[in-house]
Amino acid sequence: AKVAVLISGAGSNMAALLYASRQGAPFEIVLVASNDPHAGGLSLAEAEGIPTFALSHKGLKRAEHDGAMDAAIRQSGAEFVALAGYMRVLSDEMVQRWEGRMLNIHPSLLPKYKGLDPHARALEAGDEVVGASVHLVTTELDGGEVLGQAEVAVMDGDTPETLAHRVKVAEHQLYPRVLGDYVSRPYDPQWLLARLTGMAL
Ligand code: GRF
Repeated sequence: AKVAVLISGAGSNMAALLYASRQGAPFEIVLVASNDPHAGGLSLAEAEGIPTFALSHKGLKRAEHDGAMDAAIRQSGAEFVALAGYMRVLSDEMVQRWEGRMLNIHPSLLPKYKGLDPHARALEAGDEVVGASVHLVTTELDGGEVLGQAEVAVMDGDTPETLAHRVKVAEHQLYPRVLGDYVSRPYDPQWLLARLTGMAL
C-alpha cells in the first residue's frame, strides 16, 4: 500500500515507518509532506530518497493549506495518509475525504489526554502507566477508533520530557505494526454491502 506521511517536526515516527517499509512491512512511503519547511524530518526523507512536499500554513486559510497538501498527496498516488507529529488540525473536508484511510499517532492511552501535553497531564494525575495510541482520524480531535496501543510504565523521577522520550521509543514499534495490519486487513463484507445498498443497478 502507498502511504503519504505528514509531519511537522523531527519525523522519528516517519523514519520508523520508512525503515519498517524497507524491512518488508506491507506499505511504501511515497511522500513526506510538512506544514513546516524547516521540519527536521524533511531532510531525513530527502536523504533517504523519498519525495517531499513542504508548504507553510502561515498566511493561508486552513482550507487552502489543506487543499494544497491534499493535491500533493493525491499526486503522489498515496492510498493512505499517516499523520506522524503533524501539528495542524485538519479541516473537516480534508478529514472526510480521507475517512477510513487516515491514521494518527497520539502519545497517550486514548481516550485519556486528547490534545496537547498528555505527558504532563498524566504525571499530574498520578498515572502509573502511560503510552501511545494509533487511531483513525475523524473530525473529533484524537477521537477516532483506536487501532492499537502500547503501554509504558511511569518511573520515579519521571518528567514530561523523560516520559515523552520513553513513549516515543514505544511509538516507533507501535506505528509500523498497526499501519501494516491496517493496510493489509481483509475487506469488510458488511461495509461493502452498506455502500452498495440503494445503488441504482
Ligand atoms: C510523537 O510523540 C507523536 O505521538 C506526536 O508527536 C510526536 C512526533 O514526534 N503526535 P516525531 O516527529 O515523530 O519524532
